[in-house]
Amino acid sequence: MGDMEKDIAKTLITREALEARTAELGEAISRDYADKDLLLVCILKGGVLFLSDLIRTIRIPHEIDFMAISSYGGTRVESSGVVRILMDLNANIENRNVLIVEDIIDTGRTLSYITENLRTRNPASVKICTLLNKPSRREVDVRLDYVGFDIPNEFVVGYGLDYNEHYRNLSFVGVLKPELYRGPVEESRH
Ligand code: IMP
Ligand code: MG
Repeated sequence: MGDMEKDIAKTLITREALEARTAELGEAISRDYADKDLLLVCILKGGVLFLSDLIRTIRIPHEIDFMAISSYGGTRVESSGVVRILMDLNANIENRNVLIVEDIIDTGRTLSYITENLRTRNPASVKICTLLNKPSRREVDVRLDYVGFDIPNEFVVGYGLDYNEHYRNLSFVGVLKPELYRGPVEESRH
């Protein structure tokens, strides 16, 4: 990992802190959804490490499904909120309790699109569980039900989060050196 570590300005959330907070969220979800039909919907790709650790701390029966989206416009570090579904759910979510599992909420545009889209499919409920939240960046109001950590307005990578598809495999969340992330792209995957 030596190669990637030189690109990280500082560690924001350690592996131990991620593990401890994930266990707390899993405990809360297990309590809140006891005796309910729970479907976790992971937003690819950023949410995948969080999902896989989170479900190991959930003690109640549940299913998982995946959705892949991309946002048009914006830059590699900023989504425009114009969203395209690259891969839709397998599951029919009608009358089911959906819990969206995301890596990070920034402006809120992506999540607001996804929740509105899922609500048209008549689920019993749609709630949101995000590992990270940048409240200072919010442009669209989204109700977050479970939040791992509120973080400052810095571009972070690791534990599923990427810059230009790299750094997802870091086991901690770190701040990328700002000189490494300049320049627009046309479409970026989550
Ligand atoms: P939003 O639509 O502005 O809330 O953007 C959310 C998406 O932007 C996330 O799912 C990430 O893919 C990406 N994103 C936002 N901030 C960061 C960051 O600090 N690091 C990596 N990806 C980010
Ligand atoms: Mg991304």
